[in-house]
Amino acid sequence: MFNLNVYNRLRATRDFGARPVILEEINSTNEWIAGKFDDPDICRIVAVAHKQTAGKGRRGRTWFNITGKNLAFSLAWRVSESPGVNALVTLAAGVALVEAIMETTDAKPALKYPNDLLLGGKKVAGILSEMKTSPDGARFVIIGVGVNVNATHDQFPDEIRDIATSIREVCGVTASREAILALFLNNFEKMTDGMTESGPDDVICRFKKYTDMFGRKARVTGAGSNLVGVVKDMNSDGALVIEVAPGDIRNIVSGEITFLD
Ligand code: BTN
Repeated sequence: MFNLNVYNRLRATRDFGARPVILEEINSTNEWIAGKFDDPDICRIVAVAHKQTAGKGRRGRTWFNITGKNLAFSLAWRVSESPGVNALVTLAAGVALVEAIMETTDAKPALKYPNDLLLGGKKVAGILSEMKTSPDGARFVIIGVGVNVNATHDQFPDEIRDIATSIREVCGVTASREAILALFLNNFEKMTDGMTESGPDDVICRFKKYTDMFGRKARVTGAGSNLVGVVKDMNSDGALVIEVAPGDIRNIVSGEITFLD
């Protein structure tokens, strides 16, 4: 049961999430909101699923459903005219989610590029952003967020039991899904407003603060890359800076990171 009273009390946004839609059962909240392009108010909707039957992860993977325990939601961001902002909107979502979890629980997630959240090295949340064009040509980024909030170790499917965790597993107490969602939306709206007005520096700076990737050896695969190197930095465009050999620096803008140490 998703408590809308708690959510409405904590949400302080102008637009994001002003229209919460609670879906008892849906294939995927990303798919659902992508079917709402004829709604002029689409950017005020947040679609929250009690149960997803075909939740999507990045790179064609499945996002497992654990009914009623976790958070699965999507919103639509109208593509901005400000240069650089669209590429960074998913990084901003990751930062907003870390801060929402820290503000509402004792957990301190680390960000793994581009937007996985880890607790104790295990995945606690992931973000899938998809660029879509409406029939009348308007462009949107659909941002779908899955957070393992209150699922217990035994409720995870076998395939992910050893690599996933939940806030409850780490903190030992039940966390409020409503509070995490409301605070995420508050943070995300402030960050996207800030990016539009003043550029992406603040988002990059906050991403760097919450990641523990720097100095680690990693493999990057996918999106045409297959390389191994040491993660050095994130540049001002939001690309990951990787040194593959002394003085040989590559800027990575997408791909899958696997830590090797
Ligand atoms: C990933 O880490 O692979 C991204 C996972 C994103 C999962 C969320 S759950 C809500 C939204 N609807 C989906 O079908 N996927 C995203």
